Amino acid sequence: MVAKFITVEGTEGVGKTTNINFIKSWLRQNEIKFVATREPGGTPLAEEIRDLLLKPRDELVVSSAELLLMFAGRAQHLNKVILPALQADTWVLCDRFTDATYAYQGFGRQMSSELIVQLENIVQGDIRPDLTLLLDIPVEIGLERANDRGDPDRFEQEQQDFFNRVRAGYLSLANENSDRYVVIDASQELQGVQTDIALALDTFYKSLGHE
Ligand code: TMP
Repeated sequence: MVAKFITVEGTEGVGKTTNINFIKSWLRQNEIKFVATREPGGTPLAEEIRDLLLKPRDELVVSSAELLLMFAGRAQHLNKVILPALQADTWVLCDRFTDATYAYQGFGRQMSSELIVQLENIVQGDIRPDLTLLLDIPVEIGLERANDRGDPDRFEQEQQDFFNRVRAGYLSLANENSDRYVVIDASQELQGVQTDIALALDTFYKSLGHE
C-alpha cells in the first residue's frame, strides 16, 4: 500500500488536538489525501463504544471488559474506515491506536501484554502504523492541563500512579519500536513542539522517496 498510517499518542493533556491540527496542515501543504480519525471511536458504532468506555459510572468496569470493548471498536473502525482509506491510497491520521491499549490497559491496568498481542493479531492481522508520534510530557503538567478542561472522563479520574505507568509504558513502547516511533518533547513551547513534529514528518516523507 502506498498510503501511510500515522498515529499520535500520549498521556492526558499533551496537546494532541492542537498538534493533530498542525499535522493536518502539514499533510495539506504536501498535497497528501488523508482522513483524520480517532480511537476509541471513528465510526457511529465505535463512537457509541467510546461513550460507554469514557462515561464515569458507579459500576466498576473490569479490565478485561474494557480491553475487549477497545478492540471491538477497533475492529469496526479498522474495517469501515482505516482499511478502506488505505486501499484507496488515502493516508490515515489517527488520534491514538493500539499503542494506547498497550500503554493504558497493559501498563496502566497491568493486563497481560501477551493477551493484547493476541487480540491485536486477531483484529488487525498485519496492519500496524507506519509512523507513531508520541507526545511526551511529565504526568503532573499534563494532568494540570487536562483538569482545566472540565468534567473528567472515566480515565481522567484515575490517580497519578496510573498515568505514571502509562507514560513509562509509552516510552518503553517507543524504545522497542524505534523504527516507527518518534518521541516529541511536548513540554516545550508550542513552536518548539511543532518544529520537532515537522522535522519528524519531513524525515518520514523523505524516507518514502519524496523530496
Ligand atoms: P482521548 O482522551 O485521547 O480522546 O482518549 C480517550 C481515553 O481512552 C484516553 O484516556 C485513553 C483511553 N484509551 C485506552 O485506554 N485504550 C485505548 O486503546 C485507546 C485508544 C484509548
